[in-house]
Amino acid sequence: MTTARDLERLALDAVAAAEAAAIAAYRLVGRGDKEAADQAAVDALRTGLNAMAMRGRIVIGEGERDEAPMLYIGEEVGTGEGPEIDIALDPLEGTSLTAKGMSNALAVVSFAARGGLLYAPDTYMDKIAVGPGLPDGVIDLDKSPSENVRAIAAARGVATEDVTVCVLERERHEGIVADIRSVGARIMMIPDGDVAGVIATTDPSTGIDMYVGQGGAPEGVLAATALRCVGGQMQARLFFRNDDERGRAAKAGITDLDRKYDLSELASSDCLFVATGVTSGALVEGVDVAAGEVATETLLMQSSGSIVRRVQTVRPL
Ligand code: FBP
Repeated sequence: MTTARDLERLALDAVAAAEAAAIAAYRLVGRGDKEAADQAAVDALRTGLNAMAMRGRIVIGEGERDEAPMLYIGEEVGTGEGPEIDIALDPLEGTSLTAKGMSNALAVVSFAARGGLLYAPDTYMDKIAVGPGLPDGVIDLDKSPSENVRAIAAARGVATEDVTVCVLERERHEGIVADIRSVGARIMMIPDGDVAGVIATTDPSTGIDMYVGQGGAPEGVLAATALRCVGGQMQARLFFRNDDERGRAAKAGITDLDRKYDLSELASSDCLFVATGVTSGALVEGVDVAAGEVATETLLMQSSGSIVRRVQTVRPL
């Protein structure tokens, strides 16, 4: 049985693996080739994971076995000795951000005991999240965004105008945006990267109170592991555009396609969350190369003890 202590022992190697992915992707920042950037991050992350003393299994990865040669769902990683670990990863969260040289691109990995993460298929997911310090049940995915804004404002004792919501800038979110604006709340639009968008709700310095909208399901589980580490609330529901996507869910073992998941179902056991900056953003600084050295910053969160560390590493080029 994998314990919280087993996960803690993996922390430094987990940071090294995410750092390697971020450094590899950094070389492709601003070069307009998101596939190459992603591939560089995948290769480096895989090497890093394979050096870790664990019996790791990818549960959220680069795709299904027949479509992803590396870090596919079900791939075993690690030295083959040590605790049994389930891994969710996005070697480059923000491939477009990286290709365009924009902020907030991350290399992200989460680790949990076997069975501790929702085996989410690679489909869309409707998500709503808030950070810690609000009463349980303050948000509800089945209520409108404006009702949720009102509930947060009431819980905080502020006006709805003083609530800020983070939303991915997409045409499909026009209704959400109009509804939030109807109660006067502020919206902070992000072009990509909703893992960072969800995590921003946990950091008062961002000013973001709530995240809402539809993004990738894998990113939803990754964000949930971070929230499980630091507190907060999240609800989510898978969204399918066609039968192929419904088939993916069935393959992942999901029988109730309309189920509303709570944070405790998205990430159900102790976990570690690791995110290294590729480009600088609200969460962490990006990779910095100067004077023959490469510097990285990594956010390392562990659910046991709700500990957040910022790891700054400098190594020779
Ligand atoms: P990349 O594919 O460029 O890495 O973008 C990541 C992302 O913005 C996620 O953060 C988000 O969950 C998802 O894409 C949204 O998907 P879409 O771009 O199809 O709306």
